[in-house]
Amino acid sequence: MLFSAFRQSTYEPLSTYPGQQQQKRWSTRSKLALGFAVASTVLLGFWFGKAALFRRAYNPLDDYRNINQLPVTVADSLPKTSPSNRRAVVSSLYSDDFAIATAVVGYSTQAANVSARLLLPYLSDRVSSKALCIAQATGWEPYPVPLIPPPHDGRGIYARFMDQYTKLNIWKLDSRGIDSAVYLDADTLVRRNFDELFDSPFNFAAVPDVYGAGDPRGFSLTFNAGVLAFRPSSAVFDDMREKMETAEFPLKQAEQAFLNLYFGGTAMRLPYVYNANLAIKVRSPVLWRRLVDEMRVVHYTTVKPFIIDSKSSSTILDEKEIRVAMEQAAKRESGLFREEVGWWREAYDRMMLDRGHEIRKCY
Ligand SMILES: *[C@@H]1O[C@H](CO)[C@@H](O)[C@H](O)[C@H]1NC(C)=O
Repeated sequence: MLFSAFRQSTYEPLSTYPGQQQQKRWSTRSKLALGFAVASTVLLGFWFGKAALFRRAYNPLDDYRNINQLPVTVADSLPKTSPSNRRAVVSSLYSDDFAIATAVVGYSTQAANVSARLLLPYLSDRVSSKALCIAQATGWEPYPVPLIPPPHDGRGIYARFMDQYTKLNIWKLDSRGIDSAVYLDADTLVRRNFDELFDSPFNFAAVPDVYGAGDPRGFSLTFNAGVLAFRPSSAVFDDMREKMETAEFPLKQAEQAFLNLYFGGTAMRLPYVYNANLAIKVRSPVLWRRLVDEMRVVHYTTVKPFIIDSKSSSTILDEKEIRVAMEQAAKRESGLFREEVGWWREAYDRMMLDRGHEIRKCY
């Protein structure tokens, strides 16, 4: 009786480990064949000693560099809790094609009654006054920041991450009177209030990353840099800037890989509901269902309801184009994320009902 509620949710083994589901007994012949296959694989493995076969994916904890002296917890001298004008939700705007997404992040943050200022660092030579107007119409206070170029002149970085180190500017928010901040990527959506993050006793907190089907990293020990709860500190910013050039880490993943090296051993790991990465749904539908009602921030990593497939220009999408983008996203992956795209659509529709008048004036 007591456990009847639990019986409804059955355990679903990961599809990527079919061996666990196999109940069949092995015949002697197939055992021999398997033994031979294993032996030859091992031999081949030694032969290609350095080949990827036995090499684990990079993990900054395996290769830890002691480059961060920041205490794990907030200093006793600092206030444990700050008034809302000293807290900030911060995102970033580096091109016009993310203007509407950023607007939805801002609007959904306000709709959840998050009590903090909404600060939006932007690159002044990339972002139009129209895009800034849309951001302001949804509560953001934009402020220009300098571009932080990638280390080693951008060697080895994914082209689409070239601007991403600019994110590090958020550590300088102490100079704007901010004690405590939560960073949100533009491809996130706020579903519930997360005020508790501002009172976190930890200097840095983030959510472990999750990789989709077929990626052996699965539920990872490294964190995703799309949602960060942190105490701004210009001293930490200067320290990062200095170490970015000399630190050894996989350059491809840009600032996320650097932050994982910098904070890997000292970050507070937050529950998935603070960065509900769509990849969780791919990996474990049953975990996703478990989390849905408590999700604070959804992260549209695998499908983006605000980007049109065929369009690569960095212009602000109009209302018709946003509808097309949402329809495309709902159909992707055989419609797996229809419901989650629906959440984004609801937020967008509410935003247009409430602020559409001001937003339309910006175009
Ligand atoms: C936010 O606050 C308003 C006004 O107090 C209230 O009507 C609304 O229900 C609150 N929304 C949430 C999501 O708590």
